[in-house]
Amino acid sequence: MTANLSRIDGARVLADLHALRAIGTYKSGVHKPTFSEPHLRSLAWLVERLPEAGLAGGIDGIGNIISTSTKDGPKLLAGSHLESQNHAGWLDGPLGVVYALEAARVINRDPDMKGAVEVAAWCDEEGHFGHFLGSRSYVGGVTEADIDTARDRNEGKSMRDALRDAGLAGRARTRCEPGRHVGYLEAHIEQGETLESSGLNIGIVTSIVGIWQYRIAFTGEQNHAGTTRMAVRRDAGLALARFCVAIDDRFPAACGPRTVWTTGRITLDPGAPSIIPGAAEMLFQIRDDDPAVITRLEDLLRGMAAEVNAQGRCAVAVERIRTGAPALMDAAFQQAIEQAGAAFAGGKALRMPSGAGHDAQVLATVMPAGMLFVPSIGGISHHWTENTADADIVTGAEVFVDACRRLLAR
Ligand code: GLV
Ligand code: MN
Ligand code: MN
Ligand code: MN
Repeated sequence: MTANLSRIDGARVLADLHALRAIGTYKSGVHKPTFSEPHLRSLAWLVERLPEAGLAGGIDGIGNIISTSTKDGPKLLAGSHLESQNHAGWLDGPLGVVYALEAARVINRDPDMKGAVEVAAWCDEEGHFGHFLGSRSYVGGVTEADIDTARDRNEGKSMRDALRDAGLAGRARTRCEPGRHVGYLEAHIEQGETLESSGLNIGIVTSIVGIWQYRIAFTGEQNHAGTTRMAVRRDAGLALARFCVAIDDRFPAACGPRTVWTTGRITLDPGAPSIIPGAAEMLFQIRDDDPAVITRLEDLLRGMAAEVNAQGRCAVAVERIRTGAPALMDAAFQQAIEQAGAAFAGGKALRMPSGAGHDAQVLATVMPAGMLFVPSIGGISHHWTENTADADIVTGAEVFVDACRRLLAR
């Protein structure tokens, strides 16, 4: 047994994460929208490191890296994503990619360890152009027409132009090879405060939340903000604001214990201080583990819209633009993480659902999938102050690599 090969190198894991943080740094976090220059440089960083882990691979036609090993035996797919939300944290995504790379370094070149870890970096998990575009492409859920119509949510740039500018136009998209992998394992920061407040350092994910999203558009009448009497205005912005508050008042009676809802973006048209908005739009999201709960809330939402329309002052239309199914994590994967947690983290692991979406829920549609969480300081994420203690990062890597080893040794 080659003892030096078979152990993870905690300093190397931290150095890799800091190397990725140095690409596209924003304050203490990063700003790496999908296909931005720092995102592409982060992908190149990973491609350069694949050979040292016994892997080959490049960037495919949708921006995924899905590496392969020629080592005999079972293969485990492992990874996460390298782009970030705008002005966001340094660990959301890279942690899972770096753990997978470390697992491949430890396992793939050791003849005494069975099988190999194949590292994946999924493109656009954060939904700049869509949502889970890379992992959905891998499982066959993205058509060429989907790519034709996808646009960056901030810049409006078309996905075709972004792929061309990234030098990826015309490349093939890698598709899942049925039966190749024993499953998919992803590590991630928790992005909530459950682990920290329980004093635990490893989360074993049991399920991943379903995410449904809506475009809710209000139409009123654009007019002069100085000359139009309050009584006769048809202010689409005000109608939107009232609707937002009504949601918060009425959803609690119909939701489940873990349901969450968010209005993440509001636009007023034309958006000027001296003009009554003639149109307004909100992007609204509901998350729950149970699609029946989300369906009930959607019915309520549509009923509330019908009430606004019946009043006649402004019109409102509700369009569902995303229907993301929840997913259960594989029982054997949960057990492997639990056993690894007992070996390396003193058994301080907690089974918990994920309220954040992850590529693992897409991969779970084609193969067994599992996820491991490490604590987030203060439960902060999707913000540049996101962080995790170094000791928790290193323990998480130990547990992750041992779980990979267990899954390949079965
Ligand atoms: C993914 O980052 C999510 O919003 O859950
Ligand atoms: Mn995220
Ligand atoms: Mn993420
Ligand atoms: Mn995410």
